[in-house]
Amino acid sequence: MPKILCVSNQKGGVGKTTTTNALAMGLRRLGRRVLCVDFDPQGDLSFGLRADNRVEMQNSIYHALKGELLAVQTIQHTPFCDVIPANMLLSGIEMEFTGKGREFLLRDCLRPVLNQYDNVLIDSPPALGILTVNAFTASDSVLMPVLPDIFSLQGLVQLSGTLEEVRRKSNPKVRAAGILITRFVARERASRVVREASEDIAKQLGIPLLETTVRNSSVLTTAQINRVDLNTFTRNKAVQDYKNLLDELIRREVL
Ligand SMILES: Nc1ncnc2c1ncn2[C@@H]1O[C@H](COP(=O)(O)OP(=O)(O)OP(=O)(O)O)[C@@H](O)[C@H]1O
Ligand SMILES: [Mg+2]
Repeated sequence: MPKILCVSNQKGGVGKTTTTNALAMGLRRLGRRVLCVDFDPQGDLSFGLRADNRVEMQNSIYHALKGELLAVQTIQHTPFCDVIPANMLLSGIEMEFTGKGREFLLRDCLRPVLNQYDNVLIDSPPALGILTVNAFTASDSVLMPVLPDIFSLQGLVQLSGTLEEVRRKSNPKVRAAGILITRFVARERASRVVREASEDIAKQLGIPLLETTVRNSSVLTTAQINRVDLNTFTRNKAVQDYKNLLDELIRREVL
């Protein structure tokens, strides 16, 4: 069975999609069989991985959750890895499923395809609603990227509260893979202060603060806009950081 990792934070723009993308590309380079599930109605991961997620297409994660298609019918084989795409239709799940058991939709729909993969990566939306609860319920672990600022760190309390709740109610085995500081600018004193504050919060929450920190680099944005494998920029510092992150998560048996 694959290791299933969800990348989550209710704050927007903290690097969830970039991190999911970088890990997927890195795992593929190691020869792993990778499935990426775009679980954000914004569809950014689908875009970066060159999946078709136009709103008129009839085979996205939304159609699988609704039971209109099997998960296998929604998988696209992109130049990078296998992807189940998402688009704005996915936001309808919140309204359309209100009944009991709605937190198991993603877990149940992915189950039949799991044995085809070594790793499943789930990108999640900047919210703590039913989509995120589904993503946690379907996962073995949750990676939490944060920006190096105090408001981002404070948001971790709520995020880990939601994870605790899922652990109690729908998925006792899910654990926090760790907190990942992204867009780090080492020269700024504030960033160093944040690193120390992160260590305190991580300790309070009982979640590991990852050794790897991802530095700020515009190359990551350029790679995503051009929809290319960011690992080709081997000399870039942030790309090296993502390689270290991959190694660290493998060492921690998260991937
Ligand atoms: N280490 C980095 N250095 C510079 N820019 C970065 C870095 N990581 C991400 N970015 C850029 O920051 C923006 C937000 O990143 P990303 O889309 O990964 O965040 P997100 O958490 O997925 O956002 P959302 O909550 O909207 O889904 C993007 O333009 C991305 O290219
Ligand atoms: Mg995103």
